[in-house]
Formats: sequence, C-alpha cells, structure tokens
Amino acid sequence: MKRLLLPLLLVGFVRALPDQFTANCHDRCKCNKTTISCTRAAVQSTDIFLFMRSEVYEDLDTLTVTGNKLHHIDDSNLFGEGVTHVHLSLMNISHNAISSLHADALRGLPRLEVLDLSFNKIETIEGDLLGRFPLLRQVFLNRAFSSALNGSTDVINMVYRLFRESSNKFDHLEEVHLDSNLLNNLPPDTFCKLPTLTTLSLKGNRLRSFRFDNNCFPVLNRLDLSRNHINYVSTEVVNLWDVGFPVLEELDVSENPFVCDCHMKDFVKFVWKEKDVFINDEDTFCMTAIPSDLTNEGLAHVDANQLRCAGDIDANLHSVYLLVALALIGLLLVVACFVYRSGTSLLTKTFSGGGSKFTVVGGYHKLSGADQEGAVHAEFV
Ligand SMILES: *[C@@H]1O[C@H](CO)[C@@H](O)[C@H](O)[C@H]1NC(C)=O
Ligand SMILES: *[C@@H]1O[C@H](CO)[C@@H](O)[C@H](O)[C@H]1NC(C)=O
Ligand SMILES: *[C@@H]1O[C@H](CO)[C@@H](O)[C@H](O)[C@H]1NC(C)=O
Repeated sequence: MKRLLLPLLLVGFVRALPDQFTANCHDRCKCNKTTISCTRAAVQSTDIFLFMRSEVYEDLDTLTVTGNKLHHIDDSNLFGEGVTHVHLSLMNISHNAISSLHADALRGLPRLEVLDLSFNKIETIEGDLLGRFPLLRQVFLNRAFSSALNGSTDVINMVYRLFRESSNKFDHLEEVHLDSNLLNNLPPDTFCKLPTLTTLSLKGNRLRSFRFDNNCFPVLNRLDLSRNHINYVSTEVVNLWDVGFPVLEELDVSENPFVCDCHMKDFVKFVWKEKDVFINDEDTFCMTAIPSDLTNEGLAHVDANQLRCAGDIDANLHSVYLLVALALIGLLLVVACFVYRSGTSLLTKTFSGGGSKFTVVGGYHKLSGADQEGAVHAEFV
C-alpha cells in the first residue's frame, strides 16, 4: 500500500506546480508556451511587455495585448534591452490608445508575419516601422490613426511612408487593411511596392475616387472600396481597369453615393459586363440619377443607354415641348374640322306610314353644290 501511495502523492504535487509560463505570467494575462494574451488588461504603461522575456517564452508565437492606455511607445525595445522573440509571428496591439510609435520598439521581432495596430490614435510613427518585418503577411490598420487628424495629409503621409517609402521588399505581404481612417485621398502609387498583395481594404474612408498607377496590383484579388464618397468612376479608370487589376476577383464599391448620369455610362456598362466581380451589388446603387427615376436603382440594373446629363435633359425637354406643340396643333385641326362638319351636317327625317324611319344624312359630301343654300331638306319615300 505504502509503495503505491508515494507515486500518487508525487503526481498530485507535480500537477499543482505551475509551469514556467504560468509562473512568470503577468496577473492580467494568460500565458502558455506559445501564446500570451492580455485582453482588456487596462494598464497604462508599456511595462506590461517586460515580463515576456525570451528565456522564459522562447517559443512565443502569438502575442495579444489589447484594451490598454499605452499612449506613447518610444524607441526602447518594448520587451526589454536585447530581447528577441525569434518565433513571434502574430502581434496584436490593437485598442491601446497608442498615439506615437517608434519603429525601434519592435526591433526584437524578426519573424513577424501579422501586425495588428487597429483602433489606436496614432499621430506619429517614427522610423521605418514595416521595414523591420521582412516576412510580413498581413497588416491591420483599421481605425488606427487619430480621428483628431481627420484624415489630413499627416495621415496620408504616414500611410505613404509605411508602404511606399519602406525599405521592406514586401515579398510576403498579402493583406493590407486600412478601414475607417477618414482618408479622403491617397497618392496613386501608395501601394505600388507590394508585389504579392492580394487583398486591399479601404472600406469606410472618404475617398472620392480611387486612383492607381498601372502595374501596381499584379496579383490583387480583392479590393474593398465600400462606404467611401465616390460619386463617379470615369471612363479613363474603366479603360485602365483590365491593365491595372489583371486578376481581380472581388470588387466591393457598395454604399458609395454614385451619381448615375451620362458620365457613368462606361462604368455602368462595365458593372454589367463584370457582374461576377462586383460583390454586395444589392447595396451598390445610384444615390442620384438622371433621369431621376433611376435614383436608388441598383447599378447592375441600370441600362447605360438611359443615362443622361443635365444638358441633355434640356434638349430632351425641348423635344417634349415640340411634340406637345405638334400634338396641340393636330388636336386643334381635328376640332376645327369637327366643328365645321357639325355646323353643316344634315339631319334628315323620313316618315312612312304608321312606322317611322329616320335617315340621317350627314356629311359635306352628301350635299350637292346647288343645295348649299338651304342646307336642310327632307326626303320623302
Ligand atoms: C496556448 O493557449 C492558446 C489559447 O489561449 C491555445 O490555442 C494553444 O493551443 C495553447 N498552446 C499550448 C502549447 O498549450
Ligand atoms: C486583435 O485583437 C482584437 C481584440 O481582441 C480582435 O478583435 C482582432 O481580431 C485581433 N486581430 C487579429 C489579427 O487577430
Ligand atoms: C474633416 O475633414 C473634412 C474634409 O475631409 C471636412 O469637411 C470636415 O469639416 C473636417 N472636420 C473637422 C472637425 O475638422
């Protein structure tokens, strides 16, 4: 009996001991060999990253630290001096009210593939942030920039520097998400250095148009431009489309305030032709239209030949006026004719025996020239 009891006790004891990952974990976080997760940790300092030492978490692969008020991330290594997490592939530091970020803070992450910086209040990014991650596959920057900047040129420049001016070759970057950043413009070559980009999302910005340089999107599959401020897609853009997006499979332009008039003929034809490419087409409609009965009509259901412009409408109205005038003249002629005819028509009554028989003789042609004075005469049978 005693021989059995000892191993049993030992097993119980070993079980109760926390492993090194749990033992070293911050009390607001959950940690195991590969994953550290501190969601809604509600801390106000970047010190929360300091417990994640590489000796303890040498296999760390996924790190999520969200829901804090970190404000400023300066140039010192976020994880402490000399710390490198060689296996970290996903870093999620969204929802942290980060307003300034120095690229050097993330210098210990040579294998990072996914970076999520969404829902922050970024006003400045120092250094070549994305240049630090040669294996980067996905970047999430949804509502990442300070709304106080209101999508201004500061934001546009930050985005441009992140992608266009980075030293990164971006040989692996497949997805860029820049939703809801109040962007009203982006230089046409912003994404021209991303040879492997398959998904670009610019949903919920204030773009009035989407300008792009040729050969920028050799493998782009999905483009989301929904909920922007696009009124028109010009013929020029339509003509460049096949060259600009040779392998596009999904295009979302829903919930834009399209003006369906003569300038949109080519785009409407294009929507019709490329029906399969346009997704969410039930939410892709004419906000205003000429003719106005096409307002709220789905773009895919509009007949391009019906679209007119304000100038055309005048010309149209003129022809309508002309038609009405012609019709009126015609009507007048008919009425005149009728009036004349009834004024000269005859009513002939014929009585015969007990029965009665009316013969109505009407019409000008029935009158002989001689009878014209006394226009009415009776015929007796
Ligand atoms: C660590 O935890 C995460 C979720 O919290 C889980 O998906 C993963 O499988 C765990 N890994 C190990 C090695 O236990
Ligand atoms: C990052 O964390 C947020 C909140 O926990 C989550 O909604 C989001 O999907 C995560 N991002 C990635 C890329 O996993
Ligand atoms: C933000 O920018 C838009 C133009 O993009 C402008 O119409 C609006 O007034 C600005 N709002 C503020 C609060 O500055």
